[in-house]
Amino acid sequence: MVKVAVLGYGTVGSGVVEVIEKNKEMVSKKAGEELEIKYILDLREFPGDPYEEKVVHDASVIMSDPEVSIVCETMGGTTFAYNYTKAALEAGKSVCTSNKEMVAKFGPELIKMAREHGCNYLFEASVGGGIPIIRPINYSLTAEKIESITGILNGTTNYVLTKMEREGKSFDEALARAQEKGYAERNPEADVEGYDACRKIAILSSLMMGKNVDFEKIPTEGITKITPADFEYAKAAGRTIKLLARAKMIDENSLEAMVSPVMLDRENPLAMVNMVFNAILVKGNMLGEAMFYGKGAGKLATASAVVSDVIDCARHKENAIPCFWDAENAEIVDAGKHVNAYYLRVKKSAKEAVEAVLPGGKLLEIPERTEDVAYFTQPLSRNAFEKICEGLGDLVLGSLCLG
Ligand code: HSE
Repeated sequence: MVKVAVLGYGTVGSGVVEVIEKNKEMVSKKAGEELEIKYILDLREFPGDPYEEKVVHDASVIMSDPEVSIVCETMGGTTFAYNYTKAALEAGKSVCTSNKEMVAKFGPELIKMAREHGCNYLFEASVGGGIPIIRPINYSLTAEKIESITGILNGTTNYVLTKMEREGKSFDEALARAQEKGYAERNPEADVEGYDACRKIAILSSLMMGKNVDFEKIPTEGITKITPADFEYAKAAGRTIKLLARAKMIDENSLEAMVSPVMLDRENPLAMVNMVFNAILVKGNMLGEAMFYGKGAGKLATASAVVSDVIDCARHKENAIPCFWDAENAEIVDAGKHVNAYYLRVKKSAKEAVEAVLPGGKLLEIPERTEDVAYFTQPLSRNAFEKICEGLGDLVLGSLCLG
């Protein structure tokens, strides 16, 4: 019998209990032994809940119980959750988590600590919710040199952008709709400013590099400046707008990494990913491209990924599951040097001024739009593009990378 403790009985934690109990026979068969929830740690009481007897308020009960061999950390945050994760690993208990902040910030330290104590620190649920992506990178694509990873890693922003595109809503209207539907938090900052996607691409690119990619160094821009006018031009150009998290290996030690909205060609497979869905496009040097698609959030989808890690830990009681993510930092190259083509929306009166500084830019005019026009540039460095925009000052109304 494998005894499991769940830290945090919120959305994902209660989902973990539900998945283990509902699929008990199947899950136990795959784990090779019966799995049982022994404790649930939470500050609250849950009167009437079928598992209320398992609720404890003191983490030391779990950490000092030698019967508990696997701990699911579904609390979130990096204060209490960090201390409990360390305590569990130091006690030789494997930890499975959905906590992307924790993995992005302390991943290498916790993986090393698990190795030193003969247990595992697994985090399949930290990126892409229920989409298998960590395990494929670690186990399935091992013959590949992964050259790039590009993803739609945030369901909230993908929902907002889909609504803006399909219904012509403003950013604020689409966000309000997402909040009504429960797809966006009351404080949506981490999603709409791109911070959530930034942590997720830091995790994926660390696995791509085998070195730590510091999420604080990844240039990150959210979707708050996107307007219905940008979507009109995107549509006229056979494109759409998506928040992409991108990482591209330059060499063993360095990579390009970025989170930003991109005006994407309709033929790009990521252009077809809509509403709250996530997708991750992995490019290997032998395989070419493989896309992973599915629900990037939600109680049971995310819990299913946590439980898949629990099963993996039960199967590998005596040995460490390989994970190549060293503490040494990979170098993120200066984003100013990234070469890209751009979309630039300017006041109609600025046509001459733009054409003087942007040779080769392709003009797009929409007859009904009387106040602005758009240009699609040739590839140029971000530094060069920003310099042109600075020179044009308030003639510039909007701009996006093309992809
Ligand atoms: N807020 C996240 C999203 C939840 O919208 O994708 C999953 O990490």
